[in-house]
Amino acid sequence: MAIVGAGFMGQTHLAAYKTMGNARVSAVCDLNEQQGRALAQQAGCSWFSNGEEMLRQAQVDVVDICLPTFLHEEYALLAAAHKKHILCEKPVTLTLEAFDRMAAAARQAGVQFAVGQAVRFWPEYVKARELYQAGEFGAIKYARASRLSVHPQWSEWYRRPENSGGGLFDLHLHDVDYLCSLFGRVKTVYAVGQKNQLGCWNHVASSLRFENGVCAVAEGIIEMPSGFPFTMELNIVGEQRGMCYRMQAGRNLEDVSSAVRESWLYGDGEQGRQLELELYDAYTRELTHFIDHIEAGTPITAITPDEVRHVLQVILAIRQSLESGETVRL
Ligand SMILES: NC(=O)c1ccc[n+]([C@@H]2O[C@H](COP(=O)([O-])OP(=O)(O)OC[C@H]3O[C@@H](n4cnc5c(N)ncnc54)[C@H](O)[C@@H]3O)[C@@H](O)[C@H]2O)c1
Repeated sequence: MAIVGAGFMGQTHLAAYKTMGNARVSAVCDLNEQQGRALAQQAGCSWFSNGEEMLRQAQVDVVDICLPTFLHEEYALLAAAHKKHILCEKPVTLTLEAFDRMAAAARQAGVQFAVGQAVRFWPEYVKARELYQAGEFGAIKYARASRLSVHPQWSEWYRRPENSGGGLFDLHLHDVDYLCSLFGRVKTVYAVGQKNQLGCWNHVASSLRFENGVCAVAEGIIEMPSGFPFTMELNIVGEQRGMCYRMQAGRNLEDVSSAVRESWLYGDGEQGRQLELELYDAYTRELTHFIDHIEAGTPITAITPDEVRHVLQVILAIRQSLESGETVRL
């Protein structure tokens, strides 16, 4: 593995790789020497400031892109040019044109291209999907997925819409992606929200109507007042049963180990039943899935490039709805 970008997610990914028997980080690339050297030292490998030089010198099968979002395309194209498999943090990029260039480069190079839309791998969300797919909820009447956070404090690039896409792309995408992983393709969206002075849609509420008839609401705020603990919620309401999940982190998402998290299942009698789940690390589960498939030479199934493209299309449709005040058909 080469990790490109030794910041918050680069560190998170290295911690995951260290627990895996079939992945070894053999190079770290970061423009910032201090950050790069620190992560390379933890990994026991070399640090490079230049991606091209790294791919010429280091022994690498997979490039794991943990860079600021506006740099994902450049490094994905570089990895494909060197015929390396590509893992990329979400949001994959900010336009469909850029996504299509990345996907085409991976296809032509014959390498895998997977995007870390990690909520799909989060234990409680995995459980909810299992229950849904087993028909335990009955016909779905409604679903709501919500994510509320203070603004990321550790890097300035998040503040610019042209660099991060703002909360709409950076945060809200998680819930839209998860709902698509359950219900499939979205037919129409209608959204309301607030854009901040820099042009970021950081307060967004979207209603989604899926092709399969399900209606869902997603809510994403990445500019909660300071001190607000990272909070995510999922409510699925079916004809037979309903599930409610709520996680409130001790402080922010970095503090996930001290979070309060509860999942309840309703519909089997007078009282709800609290679900007891194994609380594994979602990033480790996600990267293990990616690496196992790359090692086996089989397609990555938990998230495909077509699904990533559709989610990006939905996010762009939500932006269009926010800007126009109209319902947007995909
Ligand atoms: N999946 C998730 O839950 C999750 C959570 C947080 C962030 N992210 C995503 O992960 C990505 C990285 O976010 P982060 O918070 O780790 O960012 P970060 O700012 O903490 O780290 C980015 C690193 O990239 C380096 N860098 C910048 N320009 C470079 C260049 N041209 N070449 C090489 N290195 C360069 C910086 O020096 C920095 O060390 C973003 O796309 C973000 O949206 C995903």
